[in-house]
Amino acid sequence: MTRFEVIFVATPAVGNLVPAVEFANLLTKHDPRFSSTFLIITMPQRPLVNTYIQSRPSTNNLRFLHLPLVDLPTPDQYQSSVAFISLFIQKHKSHIKDAILNLIPSDSESHPHSARLAGLFVDMFSTTIIDVAAELGIPSYLFFASPASFLGFALHLPQLATESLHSETEFAVPSFKNPLPRTVLPNLILKERDGYSWIVYHAKRYSETEGIVINTVQELEPHALESLSSPNHIPIPSVYPIGPVLDLDGPSRWDPNPAQYDRIMNWLDQQPVSSVVFLCFGSLGSLSEDQVREIAIGLERAEVRFLWALREPPKAQLQDPTDYKNPENVLPDGFLKRTAKMGLVCGWVPQVKILAHTAIGGFVSHCGWNSIMESLWYGVPIATWPIYAEQQMNAFEMVKELGLALEIRLDYRGGCDLVYADAVEVAIKRLMNGCDEIGRKVKEMGEKCQSALMENGSSYKSLVSLVEKLTSST
Ligand SMILES: *[C@@H]1O[C@H](CO)[C@@H](O)[C@H](O)[C@H]1NC(C)=O
Repeated sequence: MTRFEVIFVATPAVGNLVPAVEFANLLTKHDPRFSSTFLIITMPQRPLVNTYIQSRPSTNNLRFLHLPLVDLPTPDQYQSSVAFISLFIQKHKSHIKDAILNLIPSDSESHPHSARLAGLFVDMFSTTIIDVAAELGIPSYLFFASPASFLGFALHLPQLATESLHSETEFAVPSFKNPLPRTVLPNLILKERDGYSWIVYHAKRYSETEGIVINTVQELEPHALESLSSPNHIPIPSVYPIGPVLDLDGPSRWDPNPAQYDRIMNWLDQQPVSSVVFLCFGSLGSLSEDQVREIAIGLERAEVRFLWALREPPKAQLQDPTDYKNPENVLPDGFLKRTAKMGLVCGWVPQVKILAHTAIGGFVSHCGWNSIMESLWYGVPIATWPIYAEQQMNAFEMVKELGLALEIRLDYRGGCDLVYADAVEVAIKRLMNGCDEIGRKVKEMGEKCQSALMENGSSYKSLVSLVEKLTSST
């Protein structure tokens, strides 16, 4: 039996790495001829990523190899977070080349059972590593953990002149049915000076790969996926929507705070079905103290049961948010006492395990793509509160394009924006009591997402064609 090996170089962020690992799992389970190796880039400032990796022991089919530590880019070398992470990954090139050379047996003729290197997968920010694949004669592929709508936007970006980005109020982008308002464009395009050029750079390189694997579902994004294969579009490699790949069990294994998890689950067990609104803003999301207070007042007035993952903004550049030592310091006086029967305030939580609980009836989310798919999977309607990255566009897609979410805000900007308590109150009441139509559509889409992965489902079929492609190219 010929064996096949695929290599992954993923961005060291939970939102990129976790779905890539789940995709590798899906591939190796689907076809046991495959094994995967992740070349792990370590960034000491990302403790959550490191905890995650430590929780995943290598198996026969899925290995983690740690690359040597590399110095961070210096502040004079970048202006945006995208430039920072892209340069940091690029600095690993020679280590990645060495690691791959070590994987190739020096004399493959005498090792008839050794695996053939079928592909090197990069992700949205690690495209500089395509150079290494090209140099070693390994086909490169893209694993894209954001929606097809955003892939289409990135590919279309060079055609939107930078001046028009600042003067026009809306744009025709093929992967969106509706004109895209400027207010939902990512900060990294509008504000961070070298962010725009790095996104354009990466998008250009996506087209150099042999195939683009997207963590999405045909039934969820029919228009965006169709637009990618349209003859008017810039030619791009074949697109394989294979999602949703989700880490449904994982987060409880790498939860840094298991005692808190037990407390939350016990509490949820005592709440009526679909009665609790869950507020959570992602692994890198946090809100200003003013904003925290407005949410607290709104929640209290809404008189709805709640679970709120509240996180303290990073204390230094490049750091992640942390859990508050004492959340009382940022909440209105007496809030925790007054709401003790109604809700729980907690720190970082394994979000997907919470969404799976029947007590959860609504989700106030930052609209990271992984969160959106987790929420759909369990049929929990979202109220949109995007903060950073492409989340405003994801929120726009969910509310305006797909009718699958309720709008709190589409154009919230982390750090410089405020949603007042009365708006929070109204939105939460509607989410929990007044959005049956959205709720019904969300449940239906959740079922479609689950079917897509089953035998002969759309994602299953995509995976079959991807496997054909991976095993046929030399
Ligand atoms: C999937 O499709 C194949 C070929 O059409 C068919 O033989 C098989 O029974 C189908 N499987 C399921 C579960 O429907």
